[in-house]
Amino acid sequence: MAGNSALALSCSPRGPKGSTALVLSEFLEGIREGGGSVEVLEPYRMNISPCRGCFSCWTKTPGVCAIEDDMAALNARLDRADTVVFATPVYHFTMSEGMKRLIERTMPLLDPEVRPGPDGRARHARLGRRDQRAVLVATCGFPELQVFDGLRRTFSDICDMMEWSPAGEVLRTGSGLLSSRDARAREAAAGYLLLVRGAGRAVAGGGMIEPECRHHLESDLLPREEYFRLVNGWFVKR
Ligand SMILES: Cc1cc2nc3c(=O)[nH]c(=O)nc-3n(C[C@H](O)[C@H](O)[C@H](O)COP(=O)(O)O)c2cc1C
Repeated sequence: MAGNSALALSCSPRGPKGSTALVLSEFLEGIREGGGSVEVLEPYRMNISPCRGCFSCWTKTPGVCAIEDDMAALNARLDRADTVVFATPVYHFTMSEGMKRLIERTMPLLDPEVRPGPDGRARHARLGRRDQRAVLVATCGFPELQVFDGLRRTFSDICDMMEWSPAGEVLRTGSGLLSSRDARAREAAAGYLLLVRGAGRAVAGGGMIEPECRHHLESDLLPREEYFRLVNGWFVKR
């Protein structure tokens, strides 16, 4: 790895109080422990408008978006990072609106020309940095890993076009258990967060989140019957 600076985009509207931020902060702590530097940005607390689809950034003013907001600075930071960490809750089986909105605004980082990629599929080539890596950190409420299928597929296509080489995924199902007061859930969450930290260290050292590590990271925190018992206790009318 040329360098080990990470830019983390924490894309939950719940911000630092949410489950996604909890998992992300542990992952970033691991990166720091591994000798990397970390910068965290929260798109929901920034002024980032939706892409208007005007294509000015490809025609009238190449590389420069027509909208003047925080996205120009964010794109410049994106281009400087060695590793980009996208952290999002699953909302309706995909990424949060905030994460999608900022990704749509990365159009100025792409070449307008459409060409076949190495696999023959059409794509826009990346302008600027082409040696970056990307990590997906995502949490969801339901206990099944399939909830992440749509998000993983979309993220993989985005990485492909942005020429970010995937460094791995940290996917947490049944995220509510991370903040449960139940003693067994707390113990499981503490063990899980240590694993997440280890994954961060691996990435900081230039490695990947390997399949065996992923297998542990993606295991249920508690047996399903416990999950259902605890989760159905939270949404009772107070
Ligand atoms: C609008 C909305 C949509 C959601 N959609 C899903 C979903 O499709 N599947 C799922 O398992 N959880 C879903 N959830 C639960 C969140 O993914 C889960 O609570 C997540 O960990 C929240 O992260 P946060 O605390 O960082 O915001 C949804 C939550 C909200 C508020």
